[in-house]
Amino acid sequence: VAAPSRSELDLSSEESVRALAGDFEWIVNCAAYTAVDKAEVEQDAAHAINALGPERLGRAASRLGARILHVSTDFVFDGRAQSPYTEEQPTHALGAYGRSKLEGEERLLQVNADSVVARTAWLYGPNGGSFPRTMIRAWLAGKTLRVVADQVGSPTYTADLARVMVDLIEKGAPAGVFHTAGPEPRTWHAFAIEAIEAYRRSKGIERSVEVEPIRTEDWPTPAARPAYSVLDFGKSSRLGIAPMRPVAEALAEFVVRLPEPP
Ligand SMILES: NC(=O)c1ccc[n+]([C@@H]2O[C@H](COP(=O)([O-])OP(=O)(O)OC[C@H]3O[C@@H](n4cnc5c(N)ncnc54)[C@H](OP(=O)(O)O)[C@@H]3O)[C@@H](O)[C@H]2O)c1
Repeated sequence: VAAPSRSELDLSSEESVRALAGDFEWIVNCAAYTAVDKAEVEQDAAHAINALGPERLGRAASRLGARILHVSTDFVFDGRAQSPYTEEQPTHALGAYGRSKLEGEERLLQVNADSVVARTAWLYGPNGGSFPRTMIRAWLAGKTLRVVADQVGSPTYTADLARVMVDLIEKGAPAGVFHTAGPEPRTWHAFAIEAIEAYRRSKGIERSVEVEPIRTEDWPTPAARPAYSVLDFGKSSRLGIAPMRPVAEALAEFVVRLPEPP
């Protein structure tokens, strides 16, 4: 496995991606411009990486005789649905980040008819920042916690997503879009409480967990978020891929693998 850093392979540079060489079976693209709110004012940067990057990599994969697996997002949807989104449902991104990711999917599938897009959501894992980690830190610091309780999504543990991505590769997934997110919908509010409780239990900390539920309009952000972005796993299941672990099980592992202090 080769895992080039941004300085070795810059998705926003045509020249850099064109220089990609090697004997690969698969190219897996986890890189993206992910600052959802900042993307509203940095639309060119988001576009260069999220829309043009996958297209460049798609061409590189064709040239190198490799297949490509590209990670995308639930933010391609507007959140007006009331039941889990399937891959066939129409997209409509609410913000610049979502639009740039959607354009990336479309450009990739256009230039590389054999590519696979894995849409995921609400990621958290032992490495890097994440919503549950931020909540655990804030709780440990004794901060007052107010969390949005009217947005519903699919929390997804990165280790489980990695397993599903490997499954997609090993099963030689057909070209197209696959929804690859966790199996249990949550509101941000419920997910915050569950994450802190999992941490509290794992450390044996005797302290209450209080999180005030608020509405989206009480927490204004530059970019609008989908109110409901649960992703249906059916298509991946039909390929013989097992669903990810329930939230409680994944969180129990997550809190143990977090660095100390979180
Ligand atoms: N986080 C979520 O909740 C979530 C939800 C749904 C979908 N996704 C998708 O999942 C994927 C991973 O997200 P993440 O949250 O793990 O992102 P992340 O933590 O922000 O990591 C993004 C990575 O992309 C690299 N990168 C940025 N610009 C690049 C460029 N021009 N060329 C090469 N590499 C570049 C970054 O490198 P540096 O370290 O050098 O900056 C970083 O390693 C993305 O496709 C994202 O859209 C994420």
